Amino acid sequence: DKGEYKHYMLKEIYEQPRVVHAAMEGRLGAERVLEEAFGVTAPAIFDQVRQVQIVACGTSYHAGLIAKYWIEDLAGIPCMVEVASEFRYRKVVLPKGTLFISISQSGETADTLAALREVRDRILASLTICNVPGSSLVRESDLCLMTNAGPEIGVASTKAFTTQLVALLMTTLVLGRRHELTPETEARIVADLKTLPGLLEQVLGLDSAIEKMAEAFAEKQHALFLGRGTLNPVAMEGALKLKEISYIHAEAYAAGELKHGPLALVDKDMPVVTVAPRNEMLDKLKANLQEVRARGGELFVFAGSRQEVQPEEGVQVLELPPMPGILEPIVYTLPLQLLSYHVAVLKGTDVDQPRNLAKSVTVE
Ligand code: M6R
Repeated sequence: DKGEYKHYMLKEIYEQPRVVHAAMEGRLGAERVLEEAFGVTAPAIFDQVRQVQIVACGTSYHAGLIAKYWIEDLAGIPCMVEVASEFRYRKVVLPKGTLFISISQSGETADTLAALREVRDRILASLTICNVPGSSLVRESDLCLMTNAGPEIGVASTKAFTTQLVALLMTTLVLGRRHELTPETEARIVADLKTLPGLLEQVLGLDSAIEKMAEAFAEKQHALFLGRGTLNPVAMEGALKLKEISYIHAEAYAAGELKHGPLALVDKDMPVVTVAPRNEMLDKLKANLQEVRARGGELFVFAGSRQEVQPEEGVQVLELPPMPGILEPIVYTLPLQLLSYHVAVLKGTDVDQPRNLAKSVTVE
C-alpha cells in the first residue's frame, strides 16, 4: 500500500531513516558489531578471510563498489568487485582465503546466482547481503546478512541500496578487526552509524528544494554525474536512477576523469551533478567544477558547506548537514534519488514501473 505517497518509490525513499535503523538493530553493541548476526559459523570463517570478491548487478553492484573503498581502506584486505554477467563467464583467479560476497535485493538475480554456483568449490565461503528471506541466494550461501529493508516494490532500487551499505559497513568492521582496524576506530564508526537515521531524516527535509532543482532537468537530453572516492559510485547510482525512471541519458565519471574525455561533451545543454561533501577530495573537485563552468555547463552541487562551494550564476548549491565522512556515500545518495524521482514525475513517466524493466531479473 502506497499510503499517503503518490508512488512506491517515494514511499520507499522516505522509509530510509526507519529501515537503516532496522538494518542495524540487534547487530550493534555499544562499541562493536555483533558478529553472531552473520550466523553461528561466521566467526571461524571470518578468521580465515584473506581477500574479498564481491559480485552483484545494477544498484547492488554500486553498493559493492563503495564497499571496496571501505574494505581496503579500513580493513586493509584486498577486495575485487565485478558485475555478475562478466564475472560468471570468464576465468577468474581466486586466491586462497577468498570470501565471496553477493549483494542482491531480490536474491533471485540470475547472473548473481550463477556466479555463486560457479565459484562455490573454489572459495573459502560465501556471504550474501540480501533483502528477501528464503530467496535462492540466501538458501545457497554459507552466510547471510539480511538487509531488513522490507518489500521494495518500485523497480528503481532505493532503500535496498542504503541498507546494503549499512550491512556492508558492518561486514567491513567484522573483517577489519581481524586485520588493520583498531577497536577505537570500530567504536567510532559504530557510534557514527547510530547517527545515520537522524541524518537521513534531515536530508529528506531538503525535498522541496530538490523538487525545484528538478525543473532544470525535465527538458534535457543528457546529464553528467561526478564524484570522487566513495562518492564516485554514488554518482554512478545517481546516473542509473535518472536514466532508469526519467529516460534521460545520464553518465557518471570519476571527477578526475573529466579531462580525459567527457569534458568535450560539456556545454549549456549538459547539466552536471556533483556530490561534493567537505572532505580531502574537495579541493581537487573544485578545480573540476571550474572546468565545467568555463564551458557553460550548468552545475548542481550537493555540498557539505556553502563556504566551500559558492552558489553563483549557473551553479546551484544544496547544502547537506555535517556528517562523519564514513556516512557520506549513504547520506548523499538520498538527494540523488529524490532528484531523479522529481524529474521523472515532471516528465510524466511511469515511476514505479519504468518501460522495458523488471524488478527482478531472473533470466539472463
Ligand atoms: O535484486 P538485485 O539487487 O540482485 O537486482 C540487481 C539489479 O537488477 C537492480 O539493482 C537494478 O539495477 C535496479 N532496477 C536499479 O534501480
